[in-house]
Order: sequence, then structure tokens, then C-alpha cells
Amino acid sequence: MVVKLLSHVILFTLLLRLLAVASSQKPPIAKPNCQSHCGDIEIPYPFGIGAGCYIDDDWFQIICDNSTGNPTPFLNRTNLEVLEISAEGGTLKVTNPITFSNCSNKPINRQTANLEGSPFAYSTKNVFTAVGCGFMATITSNSNGYSISSGCKSDCDISINKSNGTGHSVCNGVDCCQTAIPSFLSAFNTSFQRDDDKTRSSCNYAFLVDREWFQGYANNLTNISAISDRDNIPVVLEWNMFHSTTEVFGTFLEVNATVWSDDPIRPSCDSYNDNSSVYGSSRLECTCGGGSEGNPYLLDGCQDINECEVGKHSCSEPLVCVNYRAGYGCFYPPKSKSPVKAIIIGIGSGLGFLLLLLGAWWLHKLIKKTKAIKRKKKFFKQNGGILLEQQLAAGEVNVEKIKLFNSQELEMATDHFNIDRILGQGGQGTVYKGMLTDGRIVAVKKSKLVDGGEIAQFINEIVILSQINHRNVVKLLGCCLETEVPLLVYEFIPKGTIYQYLHKENEEFLFTWEMRLRIAAEVAGALSYLHSAAGFPIYHRDIKSTNILLDDKYRAKVADFGTSRSVSIDQTHLTTIVHGTFGYLDPEYFQSSQFTDKSDVYSFGVVLLELLTGEKSVSLTRSPEIRGLVTYFNFTMEENRLFDIIDARVKEEGVTEDILSVANLANRCLDMSGKRRPTMKEVAMELERIQKSVNASNNLQQNYDEVEYVRNEVTGPWDVTSTGSCLAGGTTTSKDSLPLLPY
Ligand SMILES: *[C@@H]1O[C@H](CO)[C@@H](O)[C@H](O)[C@H]1NC(C)=O
Ligand SMILES: *[C@@H]1O[C@H](CO)[C@@H](O)[C@H](O)[C@H]1NC(C)=O
Ligand SMILES: *[C@@H]1O[C@H](CO)[C@@H](O)[C@H](O)[C@H]1NC(C)=O
Ligand SMILES: *[C@@H]1O[C@H](CO)[C@@H](O)[C@H](O)[C@H]1NC(C)=O
Ligand SMILES: *[C@@H]1O[C@H](CO)[C@@H](O)[C@H](O)[C@H]1NC(C)=O
Ligand SMILES: *[C@@H]1O[C@H](CO)[C@@H](O)[C@H](O)[C@H]1NC(C)=O
Ligand SMILES: *[C@@H]1O[C@H](CO)[C@@H](O)[C@H](O)[C@H]1NC(C)=O
Ligand SMILES: *[C@@H]1O[C@H](CO)[C@@H](O)[C@H](O)[C@H]1NC(C)=O
Ligand SMILES: *[C@@H]1O[C@H](CO)[C@@H](O)[C@H](O)[C@H]1NC(C)=O
Ligand SMILES: *[C@@H]1O[C@H](CO)[C@@H](O)[C@H](O)[C@H]1NC(C)=O
Repeated sequence: MVVKLLSHVILFTLLLRLLAVASSQKPPIAKPNCQSHCGDIEIPYPFGIGAGCYIDDDWFQIICDNSTGNPTPFLNRTNLEVLEISAEGGTLKVTNPITFSNCSNKPINRQTANLEGSPFAYSTKNVFTAVGCGFMATITSNSNGYSISSGCKSDCDISINKSNGTGHSVCNGVDCCQTAIPSFLSAFNTSFQRDDDKTRSSCNYAFLVDREWFQGYANNLTNISAISDRDNIPVVLEWNMFHSTTEVFGTFLEVNATVWSDDPIRPSCDSYNDNSSVYGSSRLECTCGGGSEGNPYLLDGCQDINECEVGKHSCSEPLVCVNYRAGYGCFYPPKSKSPVKAIIIGIGSGLGFLLLLLGAWWLHKLIKKTKAIKRKKKFFKQNGGILLEQQLAAGEVNVEKIKLFNSQELEMATDHFNIDRILGQGGQGTVYKGMLTDGRIVAVKKSKLVDGGEIAQFINEIVILSQINHRNVVKLLGCCLETEVPLLVYEFIPKGTIYQYLHKENEEFLFTWEMRLRIAAEVAGALSYLHSAAGFPIYHRDIKSTNILLDDKYRAKVADFGTSRSVSIDQTHLTTIVHGTFGYLDPEYFQSSQFTDKSDVYSFGVVLLELLTGEKSVSLTRSPEIRGLVTYFNFTMEENRLFDIIDARVKEEGVTEDILSVANLANRCLDMSGKRRPTMKEVAMELERIQKSVNASNNLQQNYDEVEYVRNEVTGPWDVTSTGSCLAGGTTTSKDSLPLLPY
């Protein structure tokens, strides 16, 4: 009993320590190889020091001036000294001159900086303040197409007590007055009008000031007039970006394109301007999702907040807080608290110290023995065993198909997770090749980190895959939850990914046009099945060429369901974090954070383009404007030189009409508006139609070369005979159904 309790306590502290380690590195605030600070002041992207470090807009250029020996940041175009920049808040603090009127030893009539035409505006977090008495201070502005005039009046009345009684000065209309400013103010003039008061101060002055700063500062003063000792006052500016998401994040790609697919917490962006698309020039505002913080204008700038550590959680006893990626959860701790108390009391009252020492030695030995078993049980729980059990209870998981492997079995199968056995490394983990004792070759996926969010993804994948039975979807054989990180066991797909064949020189392998079409049709069929034919819609959410595997007969197998969602499980799910891989990501989804079946269609469209052109979805070897394959494709379509980018092999083997059909289909899949994209079912049917036409032409080519045209005209847009095979999960291959065609 005691052993059990103590080992519980030890394991629990171990678990807490493990979780505490999770958040370690600080996320970047500036672009790689760029200065992130000037003196003590952080310079977050889109601001930056030096060429290439700020966004493509020189209003955001910062000069770090060290001529005084004290590095000070300035906005180059406005020459305003920068005190603070907040990327997440979209604000920055700069110094603002005080406008003096008739004050000895002070410059006359200085005005605040004119920010018209810049991406900056004075924030309503400022307050207009005037000091002195017997006058009215006015701000006038004729900018932005409207004219405003506003101000405040400051009286002289010595009978009014200007201290609130505790030595703190206040700004209450006597010797000092304040007024709010309108929003979107980018330029204004300050002027003073004498009041008819008998007494008046000779020196008056006014300034715009950060309300929060002023409250703190004024509280420190016994006499508000002492503020005139300063030349400059902090003022808050709002900054706006008139850029698209691709412009902002596209520049990041120059440094490292792979970061897109591997980083888990992504910023989410909104653009404000109803009549512009993602590629238009709209005001862009990005934020790190809930449960994370950092610089949302850098792709990997957002980092998980450890809510448990910073106390931002709502778990109350007896629940304990466990931090996740971009969130946290409340869990029951192992039942150890009250029994521990009991033990202590028991020891205190009954046992002697010597006995305790002896006992401890004995316990130590026993704990060691039981620890291994306990760890396995603990990991099972930690790895979502409970979650899985819940899903089992709810009937979500098809139990018969899922085998629970034990850890020794898989360790042996993978030769203790030998580096030589690594098949690939993805966003969620490492995949090893293994051989089970019965001789079966399997692929074992090991999660990268012990992290709540990723574990949820693993369980998610188990639940999703257990419900899918399709010949073009990778089969899940089982899982193992007793190890430190959970393991998934799949059928082994020997020929690798289509990415390898498309983008890595592989002399021996002939990736023919016919094969490309077949793979496209197979993937489309599988997705169509997932979207509509399975019990309820399942969205893959990460379709890309590296997730399409080829088996020994070069048949396509769709893999990696870690981020997939079945609509029935997650009906109300509206994510704030955009999952997916850059280059394949539906722009509409990126904007709205709402994943639809059409988002998979978009990603599939990109894969179609890769098959057609042999080009990568994002390539650093292409010039920046056409770095993305979709833009490259649109560009060549507009210029009517589509055939310039079609893969040489495809051009050689394919018939122009068929290539055009596929290109047109891809074009429809890549429509900016999800509504106008075809459904996956329509895509699958169209591909099957094209495939049949190609096969038929290959068979007839020798004898009737001209038949091609006639046949294409005869076949309707949707070949009804092919519908069945794709909906039924593909019981007939296109070759089987070929004889049915009326040729
Ligand atoms: C700024 O100048 C001082 C003295 O001239 C020097 O010690 C310091 O290293 C400089 N800092 C930077 C960032 O150049
Ligand atoms: C600051 O901006 C001006 C133009 O506004 C430009 O000529 C100058 O080169 C910039 N300074 C630096 C250090 O880039
Ligand atoms: C400020 O005053 C100057 C001179 O009278 C005028 O040219 C300018 O347009 C004024 N600025 C604004 C924003 O009203
Ligand atoms: C005076 O102002 C200070 C600072 O704002 C505040 O802490 C204090 O309570 C105020 N005293 C009275 C009597 O209002
Ligand atoms: C100002 O008012 C406070 C109470 O509100 C009082 O305690 C204090 O003595 C007054 N100071 C003067 C200079 O009248
Ligand atoms: C300016 O200040 C002087 C005294 O310093 C005073 O005589 C004069 O009336 C003031 N002028 C205005 C316009 O307030
Ligand atoms: C007010 O005084 C406190 C304590 O002296 C200081 O920490 C704080 O920075 C001051 N506030 C301002 C705005 O100067
Ligand atoms: C505050 O300071 C100004 C100028 O320094 C002075 O004229 C005024 O009498 C002072 N007021 C109080 C209440 O001490
Ligand atoms: C790009 O990122 C990957 C993984 O995040 C890393 O291994 C690689 O070194 C990076 N490359 C460069 C040039 O930074
Ligand atoms: C769309 O934006 C342009 C300028 O950005 C504007 O001229 C036009 O009136 C806007 N159209 C609508 C319908 O809001």
C-alpha cells in the first residue's frame, strides 16, 4: 500500500517535471539573422533594422542610432524615436513633442508629427492634455477628408485643491485639462485661445499622451506643472499593414520554407476590407491563437503559454492543471494527497526515525521493481488511453481492427528505434520501419514530443483511421500507449511518397502520364470516399505530395491523418489555429479559419499541378512572384503559355486535350472561392473520365489515331458508368470497367 502511494507521488512529480520542460525556447521576434533589439528595446517584425529585416514598406524601417553611445531606435521615415513596439497589440510608442505657447526657454509652436499617408495613426489610447490656466487648447485636423476641431478649457481657481489629498496631482479642469481624441487621427495642429478669465498663466502647453503612462506619471508629481521639464512625451500609435498574408509570410519563405509544415502553432490572420481578396491589399491583422503568444507576423513567432505556470487557468482542487499546446486542461491527479497526509501523521505519531530509514531502504528496492510496470500504466493514461477508452465506450472506435501492441514487441520490431530504420520525419513524429515477430513489415510512427496537443492528434488519428476502410488509404494496424510517447503501427508502404518520384531525380523510375493520372484518380477517389461515402464526412486537412504513398504496385495510399477531423466528432469545432502546409493551404481557410471539404479540394488541386508540371508546390529556385506553384500556374495560364510548365514526360506522352482537361480541373479546384470549386466527388469522376479516355486512346492509338477527337466529343462531362466505383470505395478499377465503355 505504502509503496503504491509513494510511487504514485514520485510518478506524479516526474510527470509535472516532464510537462514543465515542454515550453523552453523563446519564439523569435525578428526575422532570422536580423537584429531583434536596439538597446533594450525589442524590434519585432514587421519592423526591422537593415535591408530585408522589415516588411517591404519603408515606413517600417528602424534606424538604431548609437551616436550617443546609447543605442536608440528611430523610425527612419518619420524620424520619431521609438520607445516600445507591440506586434500582437499592433501598436507602438514613440516620443511626441510638447507644444509650448509663450514659455520662456522653450521652443515655440512645435507640432506633433504629421502621419498622413503612413500606416500609422494616433491611437485613442492617448489623451489630449493641456497645462496652464485661463485658456482653451484646441486641436484641429483637416486630414483624411474630414475636418475636426476639439479641445479643452483650463481654469484658474486657486481655491480648488489640485491634490486629491494624498500628494497626488490630478488633471481636473483647473490648471490642467484633458479630452479624448477621435479615432484614425493621423495629423493635427494644436493652438491656444485666451480665455476671458482675469488671472491667467503666461506659459501654457499641450500634448498628446499615452493615457496609461500619464496616469502613472502624474501620480508621481506633486505639481502637474513639473511636466514641462520634459521635452517629449510618450504617445501611442496604431500601425496597420496594407499587405496580404502571402506577402507577409511569403518573405519568410526565403529563409526557410520547411518551417511552414513543421511548426505547430500558427498565427491566424484577418484582413479588414470586405471588397478585397487575400491577394488584394487589405489591412491585415494577425494574432497568435488562444493559449499562445508572441509575434504573429512571423510564421513561427507564436509560442504556447503555460497557463498552469502563469496561473491563468481555472482548475480548482482537486483537479490539477496540465498545459497543452495552445491550451490547458484540468485533470484528476493520482489519488495521493490525503493518504500522504495520513502517512505523515502516522509516521509522526507511531514510527521512529530509525525504522523510517530502514523502511525507506526497503521501499526504495520495491519501488524500483514496481516502477517499470507503473510507468507503463501511467504512460497509457498520459498517452490518451483514457481518451481512447472514452471513444471506445462512445462506440467511436472500431475495436476489432485496432490491436494494442505492447512496448517490447515494437522495440524488437524496430531494433530499439534504430536510426537506420527511420523512414521519414514529419510534423508530428518519426516513422520507423519494423518487422513483427510474425514476419509482417510495418511502419511505426513515434510522436515527437510528450505534449497534450500532439497526443490528442494521435488519438484523433486512431479514431479516424479505425473508421476508414479504403484501398487507397493507409491501413492502421494498431497502437501502443504504454511507452513514454505513443506509437502507431501501420501497414508498410514500400515505394515511398510521390514527392520523391516527382521532385528527386530518379533515373530508373518512369513516372508516366498514365501512372500520374491513375494516382490522381485514386487519391481523388479516396478523398471523395472520406468526404461523402464514409459514415460521416472526414476531412483530411493536410493533402500534399509527401502524404501520398505508393505501394509495391505503385497504387496510391493516402497517409497522415493526424490533423484530420471527422465532422461528427468535432461538429462545433471552429479552429483559431490554421493547420496545414504552406503551398497547399486553402487561402479561404487561412483567412476564415474555417475548414471545409473544399479546402481539401484546393490542396488536391495543388497535388494535381505537381503531377502535371513536376514542379514543387513552393520552390525557392523560382523568382519570388512565382514561388508558389499556384501563382506560377495562374501566371502561365494568363499568358497562355501553359505548356511551358508542363512536365516534359507528360507533354511527350499525353494528348493535348487530356492535359488541358486536367489543367482545367486543377484550375477549378484552385478557385479562390471555395463555393465555386467542384466537390471531391466531381473531381474523382472527372479524373476517371480522363483516365478512361487516355487508356482507351492508348489501346486504339496504333490503329485509329484520329478517333481521339470524336470520342472526346461523345463522352459527356460526367461519365455515369464510373460513378459507382468511386462511391463504393472502389471495388472496380478503371481498367476493369474499361470494357463497359461503348468503344
Ligand atoms: C554603442 O556605442 C558604445 C560606445 O560608443 C559601444 O560601447 C557600444 O558597443 C555600441 N553599441 C552598439 C550596439 O553598437
Ligand atoms: C532612410 O530613408 C531615406 C528615404 O526616406 C533613405 O534615403 C535612407 O537611405 C534611409 N536610411 C537608411 C539607413 O536606410
Ligand atoms: C496645420 O496648420 C498648417 C498651417 O496652418 C496647415 O498647412 C496644415 O494643413 C494643418 N494641418 C492639419 C492636419 O490640419
Ligand atoms: C489619490 O490618488 C492616488 C493615486 O491615484 C490614489 O491611490 C489615492 O487613493 C487617491 N486618494 C484619494 C483620497 O482619492
Ligand atoms: C486638499 O484636500 C484634502 C482633502 O481632500 C486635504 O486633506 C488637504 O489638506 C487639502 N490641501 C490643501 C493644500 O488645501
Ligand atoms: C507672454 O508672457 C509674458 C510674460 O512672460 C506676458 O507678459 C504676455 O502677456 C504673454 N503673452 C500671451 C499672449 O499670453
Ligand atoms: C513613478 O514612481 C515610481 C516610484 O518612484 C516609479 O517606479 C515609476 O516609474 C514612476 N512612474 C513614472 C511614469 O515615471
Ligand atoms: C506648480 O508649479 C508652477 C510652476 O512651477 C507654479 O506656478 C505653481 O504655483 C505650482 N503650484 C502649486 C500648487 O504648487
Ligand atoms: C530549415 O528548417 C529545418 C527544420 O525546421 C532545419 O532543419 C534546417 O536547418 C533549416 N534550414 C535553414 C537554412 O535554416
Ligand atoms: C472597394 O475598394 C475600393 C478601393 O479600395 C473602393 O474604391 C471601392 O468603392 C470599394 N468597393 C466597395 C463595394 O466597397
